Amino acid sequence: MTRRPLLIVVLAAGKGTRMKSAVPKVMHEIAGRTMLGHALNACQELWAETIAVVVGPDMEDVRAAALQQVPYACVYIQERQDGTAGAVLAAREAIANHKGDVLVQYADTPLLTVGTLERLHARLDDETGVAVLGFDASDPSGYGRLLTGADGWLQAIREDKDASDDERRITLCNSGVMAFGLDNLVGVLDRIENANAKGEFYLTDAIEIARSDGARAGVVVCAEDEVMGINSRDQLALAEAIYQKQARLAVMLEGATLIAPETVWFSYDTEIGRDVVIQPNVFFGPGVTIGDNVEILANCYFEQSRIGAGSRVGPFARFRPGAQLGEHVRIGNFVEVKNTVLGDGAKANHLSYLGDGEIGAGSNIGAGTIFCNYDGFEKHRTVLGPGVFIGSNASLVAPVKIGEGAYVGAGSVITKNVATDALAVTRASQDERPGWAAKFRARIMKRRAKAG
Ligand code: UD1
Ligand code: CA
Repeated sequence: MTRRPLLIVVLAAGKGTRMKSAVPKVMHEIAGRTMLGHALNACQELWAETIAVVVGPDMEDVRAAALQQVPYACVYIQERQDGTAGAVLAAREAIANHKGDVLVQYADTPLLTVGTLERLHARLDDETGVAVLGFDASDPSGYGRLLTGADGWLQAIREDKDASDDERRITLCNSGVMAFGLDNLVGVLDRIENANAKGEFYLTDAIEIARSDGARAGVVVCAEDEVMGINSRDQLALAEAIYQKQARLAVMLEGATLIAPETVWFSYDTEIGRDVVIQPNVFFGPGVTIGDNVEILANCYFEQSRIGAGSRVGPFARFRPGAQLGEHVRIGNFVEVKNTVLGDGAKANHLSYLGDGEIGAGSNIGAGTIFCNYDGFEKHRTVLGPGVFIGSNASLVAPVKIGEGAYVGAGSVITKNVATDALAVTRASQDERPGWAAKFRARIMKRRAKAG
């Protein structure tokens, strides 16, 4: 059967009261990406003619985030949050104008994969007007139950609060994701009433109404983990744990070694090369790319950074946005790198702050070096040519440039540019007094003897 054009309606208007948060529920993050972002990503991967996002009246940030990720999306406002059917009807215009199938997805179900959405859409055919994504719940409480008939077709969905004791024992539950291949979906939704325990307009009632119109509803079953709905912070943490477990496995299957996988945290977009070794307790924020053969020693933190092939970083190194390492770079313990590019083979092995700079290939940054990049108002750049040697405990006061092959003496405070191949030292020269210590000790001993 040729697939009909698809409209996806993403519901994101729920207040999310159970999160107890000033931030809308769908803006909470899993693996560094909002739940809305995860949901929209799955929509984007599925071929859809139109994506409609339904947000609440005071959710300007949700609208902006949706449009930033999917500029062609249509955003609708559900004025009163009176249930999931009301939410779908907020996109009435999009649904009425659309000739084809409609898929409804909840933005609080972030682990859903595009493969499952495809499978659900594919369930629609000439005799199946509605397809509901269901799962077998280990603990079904709180979910709507799928009531199927002896013929295998779905009869109705019963919300937890409205279910009888017998119905509550059913473990086949509604994920919330549904595909409609009806010609009059708006007509079906308009007939939904709110005579139920919550006094809400339930989308789930569409099943019985569509059936009364002669349509048939089928169920597609998927794994419980994939359709976990997030209503509270503990569920958010559980979803994060599930996501991380999958991410770790994927990274290992792609050829990286994780010594203690359960202690390494990835973002949704982390890229890890082949033969990378990651020691325990490492955190990857968004926007990180790690090249092949990189060794990450224990306790490192990365965000928006790129680490070139063959580099060795950590333990205890921090990479902030804009850290860009070439190949075979060494970054050692307690080194912080921010908005700084390091050429191939450069080294900063101990206790340094490298901010807003450029470090040429093969340069060596001594222990305790600080790039003094901030004057209280603006940030300034420190630029080092290739093969530069910075002695320990030097402060480079930006803006400043150190020419190729130059040396900076240990303990110097550099405020002026240093020429190629020069040595710059700013510390006071050493003053040595021969025999001074011996005379000093003798004087003290004599005084003590006298005092008896
Ligand atoms: C819903 C389903 C339930 C299913 C469960 C799966 C209904 C009536 N119930 O229950 O059968 O087992 O999801 O997780 O559909 N939303 C709006 N506007 C509203 C209300 C909700 O946009 O007025 C959005 C929310 O942002 C959320 C989604 O719809 O993304 C689901 O709403 P929620 O209140 O979490 O529904 P559940 O009670 O979990
Ligand atoms: Ca929910």
